[in-house]
Amino acid sequence: MKTSNTTAITQKWLEGISYEVAFWNNVYRWPHTFQGMMGWAHYGSAICLEGFDANHFLLADDHPSVYDVGSGMSYAVGDHLEKDGKLIPLDIHYIDPLAFHFNRILKKYKKKLPPIEFGMTEYLSAFIHDASLITIQNALDHSSAPIKGIVEALLALRKGGVLYLNHHPNEAEMEHYKGFHQYNVDEENGELVIWNQSEKTCIGQLLGSFASVEVKRMDNGHIVAIVRRNGDATSLPERLRKYVDDKTDKAELCEVLLNYQYRNTSLARNLKGSIRFGLFNLIQLMAQMLPWSLKMRVKRLIKQA
Ligand SMILES: C[S@@+](CC[C@H](N)C(=O)[O-])C[C@H]1O[C@@H](n2cnc3c(N)ncnc32)[C@H](O)[C@@H]1O
Repeated sequence: MKTSNTTAITQKWLEGISYEVAFWNNVYRWPHTFQGMMGWAHYGSAICLEGFDANHFLLADDHPSVYDVGSGMSYAVGDHLEKDGKLIPLDIHYIDPLAFHFNRILKKYKKKLPPIEFGMTEYLSAFIHDASLITIQNALDHSSAPIKGIVEALLALRKGGVLYLNHHPNEAEMEHYKGFHQYNVDEENGELVIWNQSEKTCIGQLLGSFASVEVKRMDNGHIVAIVRRNGDATSLPERLRKYVDDKTDKAELCEVLLNYQYRNTSLARNLKGSIRFGLFNLIQLMAQMLPWSLKMRVKRLIKQA
């Protein structure tokens, strides 16, 4: 039996999980990589986002709530607000589809950090309601349906809320469409575009008056987009409804689930999956062991190859 396009794409996405888990497992394993990451993150400090004054935006809100979606385990965003020179704890949630794996890693390495909550961009409005700010950094281009993710995130915001995106340009092209990397994020003539070999979407045009999109290419090359929801959820334009159709979602999710079960009844496939994870874990164990500067040099060489 032929599977639907969503099932085929999701299957590819599922195959990217072992690489991602092996990466974080080894960042947390080695004290120097863990400390390097926490030194770079804003955990314990005021919220800090490149190209957007999130602190100022959130101070205007009576009950600000922030969701860092596709958070990984980097705690990058900052978990406080700064008001009159004082730090105030912020209601911030770390959301990732690999939450089960990540919480196991936190426990394994005895880290006292907030647990990661389960959620996916593709179904975000089922997990989050009335958010002031949703941040997605280096993660939208890892999802299997980024346009759906944007529309879902807008519905998970309160009216006037902001979806903040920060991505490296054209990661899928750089990574040769391997693993999680199936879509590119870029800026073209001041517009946010999401594309791959078969489709290209101009986000501002798609969203129309439902949301405003401000896009910046930062000096370091990062593509930052500040997407502000203008309309009520009930005023979602007809052309965007297909992205958030619950019936279609249910049908697709059933198929993905049962197809996954079907594929995993094979002993050979299970074995292949375990070997894959073991191999990635070994590669990451050695890669994360290296000093940071050497690791960056090797990464640059691999990307140029
Ligand atoms: C490169 S990491 C980025 C982590 C963090 N945002 C940062 O910038 O340090 C990508 C993260 O996106 C997550 N991810 C992949 N697909 C996703 C999806 N469909 N929805 C939300 N997050 C996803 C992965 O599990 C992973 O933790």
